[in-house]
Amino acid sequence: MEPLPAELSIIIPTRNERGNIEPIVARLTRALQGIRWEVIFVDDDSQDGTIAAVREIARRDPRIRGIRRIKRRGLAGAVIEGMLSSSAPLVAVMDGDLQHDPAVLPRMLQMLKGEDADLVVATRQAGESTGEADAALSPDRQRFSDLANSLARRLLHVELSDPMSGFFMIRRGVVEQVAPRLSNQGFKILLDIVASAPRDLRIRECEYQFAPRLAGESKLDLVVSLEYLGLLLAKLTDDRLPVRFIMFGLVGGSGVAINIVALWGLLSAGMQFALAQFSATMLAMLSNYLLNNALTYRDRRRHGWRLLTGFASFAMICGVGVVANVGLATLIYQWDTMWLLAGLAGALVGSIWNYAATSVVTWRE
Ligand code: GDD
Ligand code: MN
Repeated sequence: MEPLPAELSIIIPTRNERGNIEPIVARLTRALQGIRWEVIFVDDDSQDGTIAAVREIARRDPRIRGIRRIKRRGLAGAVIEGMLSSSAPLVAVMDGDLQHDPAVLPRMLQMLKGEDADLVVATRQAGESTGEADAALSPDRQRFSDLANSLARRLLHVELSDPMSGFFMIRRGVVEQVAPRLSNQGFKILLDIVASAPRDLRIRECEYQFAPRLAGESKLDLVVSLEYLGLLLAKLTDDRLPVRFIMFGLVGGSGVAINIVALWGLLSAGMQFALAQFSATMLAMLSNYLLNNALTYRDRRRHGWRLLTGFASFAMICGVGVVANVGLATLIYQWDTMWLLAGLAGALVGSIWNYAATSVVTWRE
C-alpha cells in the first residue's frame, strides 16, 4: 500500500539538543494522532550527536527526517532550509527543547484551516514568567522581549503580540513566496516573514504556556539581539540596506569613535599628528576586525589559526586604507588645523574601502 503524503511538516532547528530528540518525537506522536505529519530536524552539525539521535529514530519511523548542515550556523537559515525541503501544504516551526508544547499543534492546525488564515502564531501567555527562579523567561529576557516587540510594532507596523515567537504554523505557499527576501541570521524568522510578505497576511494567534527548557542551554545572546536591531533597520529601509552592511556600519562607527578618542589622547600627550593618527587607526583596525568577526560575519567566523591569517589579510587590505586615511587626514590638517574633521574624513574613506575589500577577501563565502 502506498503511504499517504504528509499534510503538515514540523520543522525543528537543533543545535546540541541530543537529549531532547527522543522525548519530542514521543510527544509529537501522541499529540498528532489522526493527522498526517512528518518532522524535519535541521541540525547545524552539533557536537553532541544530535543528528545521530535523529537518524536512529528515523530508521524505525519514516515520518522522521534529518538535515545535517555543515559549516553553517543560524537559527533562521536552518528554519528556512527545513521549510523549503518540505512538500506538505502546511509547515510548523518549533524549538527542539520542548519549551514549545507539541500539544498546541492540533489547535493551531484547526485555526489555520478552519479560519482560513495564512499564519497562526503561538503566543506566550502574558505575565507567566514573574519572579520564580525556574521561570521560563528571566526578568532580563522578559524586558528585552518587551522592547523588541514594541519596536517591531512601532517601526514595522507588525501587529503581533509576540513577534519574536519561534513557534508558528504557516501555509508553505507563503514561505515559497517570501523565501528569497529572508535573512539567514539570527532568531527573528517570524518577524522577517511577516515584514517581507508582499501582501498583508491573515494572521491568527493562539496562546500557550511557554515551558522551561528541558535540557541543554539557550543560545540567545547579545549578538542575536543586535541582529534583531539590524533586521528592523533593514526592513525599515525596504531591504535597500542589507543587515550585514548595517552591522558593518555599526562596527565601523565604533571604530571611528576609538580612532577619534585615541587620536585626541595621543595629541594631548604631545605626539606628532601623522604618527598619532597612524597609531589611533591601527587600534581601531584591530577592534574592527575582532568585532566584525564576532558580529557581522558571525556565520563565517574565523577561529584559532584562521583568526590570525584572517587578520593578516584584513590588515593588508586595511594597510591600503590606512595610507588613504592618513594621507587624506594629514592633507586636510595641513590645509586647516581642524583635527576632528581631518580625523573623521580619513576614518570614513578607510572604512568604505575596508568594507568593500574584506567582504570579498577576508570573509568570502
Ligand atoms: N540549526 C540550528 N542552528 N538551530 C539552532 C541554532 C543554530 O545556529 N541556534 C539555536 N538553535 C535551535 C536550538 O537548538 C533550539 O531548538 C531552538 O533553535 C531555539 O533555541 P534556544 O537556544 O532554545 O532559544 P531560546 O529558548 O533562548 O529562544 C526562544 O525564544 C525566542 C524569543 O524569546 C526561541 O523560541 C526563539 O525562536 C525565540 O525568538
Ligand atoms: Mn529554548
